[in-house]
Amino acid sequence: MKILDQDADAVAPVSFGGLIEKIEILRSTLRWATRLERPDIDKLLRQSNTLREEALKLSYQARFVKAAAAGPAHVAVSAAARRQALIARSFVFEGAFGDNPKLLEALEIAEKAAPTELPVLIDGESGTGKELMAKVIHANGSRADKPYVSVNCGAIPDNLLESELFGHKKGAFTGAASDRRGKFESAHGGTIFLDEIGELPLAGQVKLLRVLESHEIQRVGSDETMVVDARIVAATNRNLRRLSEEGKFREDLFYRLGVIHLTLPPLRERKDEIPLLIAFFGDEAAEMLKRRPMKMTPRLQRFLLDYAYPGNIRELRNLIYRISCLSGDTADFEHLPEDIRPGPAERTADGGGAAVVANSLGEAKRVASDAAEKVFLERGLTEVGGTVAELARRCDMNRSHLQMLLKKHGLHSKDFRRHASSAGSQESGGDGGGDGSVKRQD
Ligand SMILES: Nc1ncnc2c1ncn2[C@@H]1O[C@H](COP(=O)(O)OP(=O)(O)OP(=O)(O)O)[C@@H](O)[C@H]1O
Ligand SMILES: [Mg+2]
Repeated sequence: MKILDQDADAVAPVSFGGLIEKIEILRSTLRWATRLERPDIDKLLRQSNTLREEALKLSYQARFVKAAAAGPAHVAVSAAARRQALIARSFVFEGAFGDNPKLLEALEIAEKAAPTELPVLIDGESGTGKELMAKVIHANGSRADKPYVSVNCGAIPDNLLESELFGHKKGAFTGAASDRRGKFESAHGGTIFLDEIGELPLAGQVKLLRVLESHEIQRVGSDETMVVDARIVAATNRNLRRLSEEGKFREDLFYRLGVIHLTLPPLRERKDEIPLLIAFFGDEAAEMLKRRPMKMTPRLQRFLLDYAYPGNIRELRNLIYRISCLSGDTADFEHLPEDIRPGPAERTADGGGAAVVANSLGEAKRVASDAAEKVFLERGLTEVGGTVAELARRCDMNRSHLQMLLKKHGLHSKDFRRHASSAGSQESGGDGGGDGSVKRQD
């Protein structure tokens, strides 16, 4: 009985004609089989699994062609429609959020690249979502249920690089106590994500180039070559073209890696996404911290919309998590990290910006009144050196009511005690927002 040669077929390129031929062979095998032994049944099962995978691959390729054909139509389509179209094509976003045209363009390129075997090079500043995009590419390809292995090329010491990527034989070097497989082997059948590829030393670049050309690896200390089938996605926040001009990155490797080159824009170039991202991360943080989503003072909202985010989406995400963790009901400047917190001049520039961001006159009034109340309390606490009873007496106010107001504004009387008042007195004169208390604590 003729059973298909599994290994020979596994490397042949997939085509509809080839697939149909294999199905025919399988059918005639079954038709003419007089009786099947267990090993034959196992073999046939393996063959049908291969055929199933190949059929899936072809369907992904068909999807790719469809997506590619749909390309030019995007030009005049709105951002929402483009995202909707991706959803309709069952695109897997892996949590990538936003409707900015540049981001959508990157997602659309990822969609087209995903079902192919072509290497993808992703660049962009730190925190722009390069790793997330690599996962998107993996998740939308035919290898989605195969391994995704991430390697940080910048974090591996030079002398361990080869062993880390390609594995080693027991005794290959001091400390090689047993055989070990490398990242490429682990990624066989799936995707290998080479992060910070710009940090790869020249010697490592030569070896990587060889793998890209031959699809073969050798464990350190072994003469045997192994075929590896790992789809390569690489990322960098450096300018590889410039590095290659300077002789620090091999030009041939640059071109091989960047068959599809995808650049993620910094957040300052997609500011229109910030409100959406704030809302998204705010909800995410609330869920994680098991709290109600926080509210923000208008001036904090305005600050977050205008800020330059050198750390991009990662910085925005971290800020929202920090603010959600530190604030009570309403977050304000004092919940920002001190190094980015606006100085007194910026805070008073428009009296707190209450009227600018409020959605209605009523809200503007309430916000302005809250801001004035806070300034009044801060100034009062500074004058009485943090003695709440004295402030209550001077304002002719019930002490517990005053305590409640201090709590509402996140003010702590101890921050205004005499020994801490030197820094405080600098800010007490006419500070429109009053985040002085926390600054003093810092
Ligand atoms: N479009 C997006 N929507 C939602 N979250 C995002 C988006 N882009 C990035 N993020 C989030 O921002 C953080 C940083 O993303 P990621 O690690 O992919 O950036 P990176 O470009 O690889 O950064 P680095 O260069 O520092 O390694 C992650 O928490 C990621 O989930
Ligand atoms: Mg990264």
